[in-house]
Amino acid sequence: MQRPPHPAAIPEPSNPELPRHVGIIMDGNGRWARGRHLPRVAGHRSGVRAIRPVMESCHQAGVHILTLYAFSTENWSRPRHEVTALMQLFGDTLDSEVSQMHAEGIQIRTIGDRDQLSPRLQAKVGRAEELTSANTRAILNVAINYGGRNEIVSAVRDLAERGIDLTTLTTETLGGALYTSGLPDPDLIIRTAGEMRISNFMLWQSAYAEIYVTPTLWPDFGPHEIAGALAAYARRDRRFGAVPEPPAMLEEALRAPAGL
Ligand code: FPP
Repeated sequence: MQRPPHPAAIPEPSNPELPRHVGIIMDGNGRWARGRHLPRVAGHRSGVRAIRPVMESCHQAGVHILTLYAFSTENWSRPRHEVTALMQLFGDTLDSEVSQMHAEGIQIRTIGDRDQLSPRLQAKVGRAEELTSANTRAILNVAINYGGRNEIVSAVRDLAERGIDLTTLTTETLGGALYTSGLPDPDLIIRTAGEMRISNFMLWQSAYAEIYVTPTLWPDFGPHEIAGALAAYARRDRRFGAVPEPPAMLEEALRAPAGL
């Protein structure tokens, strides 16, 4: 299968058994907090602290593109104080992390519908993306107010508005109109906290992603767990729906009448 182009200048993984792009559904912050008799927001704060070691261990292992599912289009229906705290946390994390990430050569990107974020948060996100846009060591892509269905609908609307003839739409044209345009599809999607579902995350892009689910709650997920996920990925047989041609000699032997 033809792989989509790699973003210019971002290094390829150091070995072909590694994914180029890992997506993580960071779940279990609430359970982590409940287990400690703490408010849910304490779980989210702890979840933010888990990000850097995971990002660094991906990079050290040779994986240079990471997408984190931070806030879904459905997460607005959480209690208001939790939504407010999460938005505050995104803003504070950008304030405290962006300059170091820039110094480390990390390109920050976001996917999702930014219009519903506060003007202040939109401006912070915009500044972080602009500042780091030429960085080539690694990409950290954060999904905020992201939903896979909305992404596809808004891509189709966008194409229609640009006068594209939708009766001739191809997978390449639609793929190029998604938020992830220019990024390779995720090869591996990790979900923490045990739920076996995709929850509207990268619906289009995950068509052939390998899924790895671990019971570990996101705040407890670290370098050891990333190593486990990458090792599991290396053992997967990725066929992208194809069956390889058997070698000619083997085919002949299989066709030979039985008993000869
Ligand atoms: C799911 O756990 C987690 C979230 C909806 C929020 C994830 C966000 C972070 C870890 C902060 C990320 C911050 C930045 C800056 C990227 P849950 O609350 O649904 O857990 P539960 O299922 O145990 O209740």
